[in-house]
Amino acid sequence: MALFGRSSDGAHAASSSRGNGQRRAPQSNEPAQQRQQSRAAGGQRPANSQRQVGRPSGGQQHPRRAAGAQQHADRTGNISRSREVSQRIPVVRPANQVADVIPASDLGVATEATGSYADLAAQDNGNAKLGPVVISLRNVTKIYPAQPDKPALAGITLDIRAGEFLFLVGHSGSGKSTFIRMLNREIVPTSGEIYVAGENLRTMRKWRIPYLRRNVGCVFQDFKLLPNKTAFENVAFALEVIGKSRHVIKTQVPEVLRLVGLEEKMDKLPDQLSGGEQQRVSIARSIVNRPPLLICDEPTGNLDPQTSLGIMRLLERINRTGTTVLVATHDREMVDQMRRRVLALENGVLVRDQRRGVYGYDV
Ligand SMILES: Nc1ncnc2c1ncn2[C@@H]1O[C@H](COP(=O)(O)OP(=O)(O)OP(=O)(O)O)[C@@H](O)[C@H]1O
Ligand SMILES: [Mg+2]
Repeated sequence: MALFGRSSDGAHAASSSRGNGQRRAPQSNEPAQQRQQSRAAGGQRPANSQRQVGRPSGGQQHPRRAAGAQQHADRTGNISRSREVSQRIPVVRPANQVADVIPASDLGVATEATGSYADLAAQDNGNAKLGPVVISLRNVTKIYPAQPDKPALAGITLDIRAGEFLFLVGHSGSGKSTFIRMLNREIVPTSGEIYVAGENLRTMRKWRIPYLRRNVGCVFQDFKLLPNKTAFENVAFALEVIGKSRHVIKTQVPEVLRLVGLEEKMDKLPDQLSGGEQQRVSIARSIVNRPPLLICDEPTGNLDPQTSLGIMRLLERINRTGTTVLVATHDREMVDQMRRRVLALENGVLVRDQRRGVYGYDV
């Protein structure tokens, strides 16, 4: 089963057909492509999706070698020759099994939208299509050393299921970014436990972080595009650093840029694109390796309302294909009209977890 994907969504049917990957033992009928990739990666066995946090076993590289490869990637931006990096986090769905996660043919393309957020509310089919719990927080507290008396997050306990679309709302300083940054292990909780696809992020070893991040796409308010690279190159870079072949890059990058409505602008530099277009490039970059979880911190924070609607429409489409999407936002209108699950933070405390929520009770 696709750990982050909806269990019964058409787009994930192929990957779901393998059963619950989190529990199974290695099988002789591993997909041929995966076996080949694994051999190409040094003759090692395919990653075993049963494996949880723990010591590297026969199918995994030594931590120091993995860390070295990643550092090399960070320095050069091109690690296609580094065989270690073609390994994946074993507890989450490998990227090559979600190749159909965003079928562009089904979804059309995203452009700056017309209509309203309310149009998107109708797309929520309820819990029926949700998969297993993939993110679990248990009494999570984060205290920054600079503010020892005021926890940024305090005692957060919640579960998020595969395929959900959630909003995270709250006033400035309520802890939204802290929450988001804990999910990709940018920061570590001071106490409590966070599990992502069964892996405890508090105790997770450093060498495994890159593998986690391949499965957690991040979108930020300020896009963070590389200014001297074209839209194509910005998206391609995300694949280069995880060692994807030129063939994969040539195939997947245009496909995802088409999905976000930018096939005509692949050769443009960021400063030749509008804010909405830049954000779409950044979303394309975050989803090009088909992460099962997409977390967005104020993705429409710098955009006008119409462009924001286009971005939300795109995120909603991505969610419809089975990707779990979490959006931290200040946009009251968006949250009120889309009526998705809302997590509300106040001074670091989860004060509301509502299935079809609104931004605040005072609307
Ligand atoms: N690196 C840090 N060191 C110390 N305190 C921090 C740090 N980062 C955030 N904080 C504090 O933690 C609290 C939560 O901050 P956070 O950035 O998570 O809020 P937010 O809800 O994302 O706010 P905004 O809507 O303004 O982005 C705030 O009180 C903030 O001052
Ligand atoms: Mg923030």
